[in-house]
Amino acid sequence: MKSLTHTCHYLLCDYDELPEADRHLIDAAKLATEHSYAPYSHFHVGAAALLADGTVLTGTNQENAAYPSGLCAERTTLFYAGSSHPDTPVVALAIAAHTDGHFTPTPIAPCGACRQVMLEAEKRHHHPIRILLYGTEGTYLIEGGTTELLPFTFDASFLE
Ligand code: THU
Repeated sequence: MKSLTHTCHYLLCDYDELPEADRHLIDAAKLATEHSYAPYSHFHVGAAALLADGTVLTGTNQENAAYPSGLCAERTTLFYAGSSHPDTPVVALAIAAHTDGHFTPTPIAPCGACRQVMLEAEKRHHHPIRILLYGTEGTYLIEGGTTELLPFTFDASFLE
């Protein structure tokens, strides 16, 4: 028997410590929360995707009276990117969330389904996504991409 360990490498950064491009992407995610449709949870999530050509696309969580029919901000954004710019890699993704206008002190982490979709976006273009999880008390910067957040991955290689 072997004991094995997965690690997740990330940086805890003050907003001001981040490069301008990261700050810009976080600002876009925060601004996007204003378009969140969250009448049930009142938890407003925004995501901003930076594409390899410099395009920034944003998306938000979209809830539904039939709860499971809603979608998280991350998947809304990545499906939008995949639909509108199918040939352009997503190189970074920022996520921010607030309730009653107060952004979360601690960054929120993408749910499992969103991590799986983030992984597919990486595999599709053979490019890791730089992940920025914003909180008022610090931002988590995950430079290594989705596999830092999703250690045991299911991808197309299992279907061969
Ligand atoms: N939500 C997201 O949009 N992203 C996350 O990473 C976590 C949760 C949304 C789904 C739902 O609309 C609300 O937040 C409460 O779960």
